[in-house]
Amino acid sequence: MLLTISGVIPPPQLERARQLLQRGQFKDGKLSAGLEAQRVKHNQELIQEADLYAALNNIVMGCLVQHPLYQRAVLPRRIAAPYYARYSAGMQYGNHIDDPIMGTGVDQYRSDVSTTVFLCDPADYAGGELVICSTFGEQQIKLAAGDAVVYPSSSLHHINTVTRGERLVAVTWAQSLIRDPGQRELLYQLSQAREKLLQERPDAEETGWVSNSYANLVRMWSDV
Ligand code: NI
Repeated sequence: MLLTISGVIPPPQLERARQLLQRGQFKDGKLSAGLEAQRVKHNQELIQEADLYAALNNIVMGCLVQHPLYQRAVLPRRIAAPYYARYSAGMQYGNHIDDPIMGTGVDQYRSDVSTTVFLCDPADYAGGELVICSTFGEQQIKLAAGDAVVYPSSSLHHINTVTRGERLVAVTWAQSLIRDPGQRELLYQLSQAREKLLQERPDAEETGWVSNSYANLVRMWSDV
């Protein structure tokens, strides 16, 4: 499932995040890439200077993780600290899938869901679309500043060459309680129905059936 979520970061926090990013220093993105990705990765990543990085994460991850649609779509078990990537004119990231296992030692986790949070306005740059291969063909994603897209980490994807301006994004991964993308999508749809029923018909018998079925499917399919 490919899901776009609008308005994850409200404008005041977004402005603050951009000010922080302007103060940050960036390094070649190849340094954090696995062997396969090194061949195709041409971008820059924020150097994670402690105070600045913590302040940025507070804003970006604070907003993302608390967003109800993110929670329902991802059902996160573990969420990784993000990378902040910058693509200037001429930069791109060729076709790849994300590493299956990330982190080191006890902090290792499986990447089930990838998330990109857009931090600059689409008018600020040309090109730079996130292109995701799905069963329905290629999806080109270029969202408003503050919006996010969530998609399975197993999908083949690339970033088109930026031809003007600068593309700024935060990227992060999550291990989901639900490993299977198909099961995750069914649970997302059921949770949306459940929310609507809870709001509109909280006391109806069918609301209880849907709600209990959702809870019991999460129990049946989750690994904790
Ligand atoms: Ni990727």
